[in-house]
Amino acid sequence: MIAIACDHAALEMKRDLLGLLDEMGLAYHDYGTYDEKSCDYPVMAAKAVTSGECDRGILICGTGVGMSLAANKVKGIRCVVCSEPYSAELSRRHNDTNMLAVGARVIGPELARMIVRTWLTTAFEGGRHQRRVDLITALENGEELE
Ligand code: RB5
Repeated sequence: MIAIACDHAALEMKRDLLGLLDEMGLAYHDYGTYDEKSCDYPVMAAKAVTSGECDRGILICGTGVGMSLAANKVKGIRCVVCSEPYSAELSRRHNDTNMLAVGARVIGPELARMIVRTWLTTAFEGGRHQRRVDLITALENGEELE
């Protein structure tokens, strides 16, 4: 199950990406926002990341920056903000990202679709990358890294 949420700046892009998820046959939960009324992106990010219902998630705001910053404050979240598919792919292969943020005021709908499709279909490589992801988790848990 994929969590998806946006703020007022990204409603149209979220609707388009919901269409992409439908085309890909993927189940999702849309945590809002549902209209163009101004809302706070940290609240929208929190709705998507704290429900515990989903294993991956997509966040969309004006730049993707605010949503990703908020999401990354939550334990276990590894959120990448992407404006091109290369980072989206590598963030899955090497960093095992579980959230993707995109900026509706930064990129157009076709590029957003390409990024989301790439991110959703790329697997984590594990191996030496697992050790590094484990180190991120250790840092998150207040452990000292050598
Ligand atoms: C809203 O105006 C805007 O600040 C928000 O969508 C996002 O870009 C924040 O990072």
